[in-house]
Order: sequence, then C-alpha cells, then structure tokens
Amino acid sequence: MTVDLRSDTVTRPTTAMREAMLRAPLGDDVFGEDPSVNALEERLAAMFGHEAALFCPSGTMTNQIAINVHTRPGDEVICEEGAHVYRYEGGGTMANSGCSVKFVPADRGRFSAEAVAAAVNDPANPHLPRTRLVVVENTCNRGGGAIWPIAAIRGIRTVCDAQGLALHMDGARIFNAITADGTGPRDWGALFHSISICLSKGLGAPVGSVLTGTAAFIHEARRVRKRFGGGMRQAGILAAAGLHALDHHVERLAEDHARACRIGEALQHHPAVEQLLPVTTNIIIYTLRAGKSAAAHVEALGSVGVKCYAIGPQQVRMVTHLDVDDTGIDHVLQQLQRIGP
Ligand SMILES: Cc1ncc(COP(=O)(O)O)c(C=O)c1O
Repeated sequence: MTVDLRSDTVTRPTTAMREAMLRAPLGDDVFGEDPSVNALEERLAAMFGHEAALFCPSGTMTNQIAINVHTRPGDEVICEEGAHVYRYEGGGTMANSGCSVKFVPADRGRFSAEAVAAAVNDPANPHLPRTRLVVVENTCNRGGGAIWPIAAIRGIRTVCDAQGLALHMDGARIFNAITADGTGPRDWGALFHSISICLSKGLGAPVGSVLTGTAAFIHEARRVRKRFGGGMRQAGILAAAGLHALDHHVERLAEDHARACRIGEALQHHPAVEQLLPVTTNIIIYTLRAGKSAAAHVEALGSVGVKCYAIGPQQVRMVTHLDVDDTGIDHVLQQLQRIGP
C-alpha cells in the first residue's frame, strides 16, 4: 500500500467529478462564452461577496496576476518569509511585476498589524520603494496549515486603508480555514481587495484557481491573464470540476483535518520528532531531532509506502487529502511506529 502525503495537489478527479466534466456545457472562454467558466466565476464571486472573478490555470497565476494589477514596477510588497508568493513562485513578484519584497516577522505565517505598519515606507521619501500591497496566506502552508484569526486581518486592513495599500489573500486553502474555524467566505471577502482560491488542492479538482475582486480589478486582471498566456478556450471542462468540488468537496475537508490530527497525535510522542507545529487543518509539519536528516527520514518512510516531503534539512511535511482514507492513515501510523527513532 502507498499513501501519498506529499501534497493535497496529488488527488485525482473522482468518477463523479469526471462525469460532471463530461457533461459540462462549453464555449470559448477567451470570448467570455463558456457557460461553465462563467458559472464558476459568478458563484465564487457571490460566495465571497466580491463583484467579479477570473478562472485561471493555477494558484501561482492568480497570485501573480493580483500582484501585477495591484502594483507598478518599483513598488514594494509586504509578506512573510515563507509566503508562497515569495518563496515558491519562481521569483514572479520580482520578474513579472518588478516589485521588491519586504518581510515582516511572523508566527507560523501570521503577522501583526503593528508589523505591517512598521514595514510601510514613507511615501514622501523618494529614496524608498513605494509600499503598495500586503499579501496574506490563509491557511499558511509553511506555518503547518495555520489559520489567521479574522480579527488580525481586520487590524491589517485598517493599516492598509490608512496607508493606501491593497490587501491580497493567497487563499489556496481558504476553504480549509473556513471549514475549521466556522467563518464564512463573506467574512474574508469583506476584508480583502482580492482573493486567490485554489480548486486543485483540498477541493480535489485537477486544475484551476479563481481570483476574485471588484469588477474593475477583474477587468484589468483579465488583460494580465492574457499577457501571461493564461487565457484558455473551452475551459469549462475544467471549471465543471471546480463547480463539482464546491458542491461535494468542501464540507468533507473536516475529514482531512481529523485525519491530520491522528497523524499529529502519533508524531507528538514519536522518538524521532523534536517539534511538531500545532495541527489545525490538513498540513502537518515537524522537525526531527538533532542529527537526523529529513531526506533520510522521507526515504525511509517512502520505502514502506508513506510518501512525504522534506521542506528543510530537518523539517518534514505531510498533507492529508481526498485520496487518503482512514485505512491509509492506519498504514501511516503503523509505519511511523515501525521506523522508530
Ligand atoms: C499557499 C499556496 N499558494 C499558492 C500555490 C500555487 O498553486 P499552483 O500550484 O496551482 O500554482 C500553492 C501550491 O501549492 C500554495 O500552497
């Protein structure tokens, strides 16, 4: 048996999802004529209380388009060091939009309004890049799937309003946050100028992310998507998977969280583990004891059918998802026990 916990992106579409894709009404989305894409965009915009939305091939593209629309070359973007937009998007913030990045100190990916206020450059000083955008990741991937308290976002939005900054959420896993903390999409939509929502992570669609915002923002985002090569034609075949995921795969995220907790409980007392980040959604991150290598640990688990990911010399990540059931978790726990210290 092999249980793949490297990422929640490894899921394959279910039979029901494939059937929904097969039935999808299609058109040319670059002409705005794909009914399934239009339905998905309208649905997510309405859910989050935003005016409009844009379907894109990836979360990297929705983030990069948002950064591009919110900024001008020479501007500065505030985020934290582990943020996907900085660390894992191929230098896109700098290359695509010509922006510098300023890090703020964070606790498991979450930072304070005070930290943002302190990081804003004086707009009257011509030596300094103009601070223009704050990016928040929710849930925080490198923070072990940590959820932002909504009150913290309110504080950051107040600073953004006072300083004339845009606030973007990389909500690749926003539905994990919503499922776990009982907030609603509109609670988050009310606080952000734009949100990137991934369909191909916990929601189990094969492809796709949606960017939401005002009608004017999405109008401009559509131009940038074209420039980035992200305009797709009969994309409704993919949007249908997203619509199916919204109908059938949101509430079940709670099962992924419960399974992640089971793994967390086993790791808490595991002799090889020095520190485990609190497990609150579907991501588990732990640090091995001194002298232990994450690469060797990942290889040892891989050889007994548990695939996971080394995210640092001693740090390991596991992610639960739609394609891992309780039997799979039983296997993971058995193998963790077996590999010992
Ligand atoms: C937090 C976060 N943001 C954005 C992305 C980018 O998504 P994609 O792989 O669709 O480009 C990922 C992907 O894993 C992610 O974890």
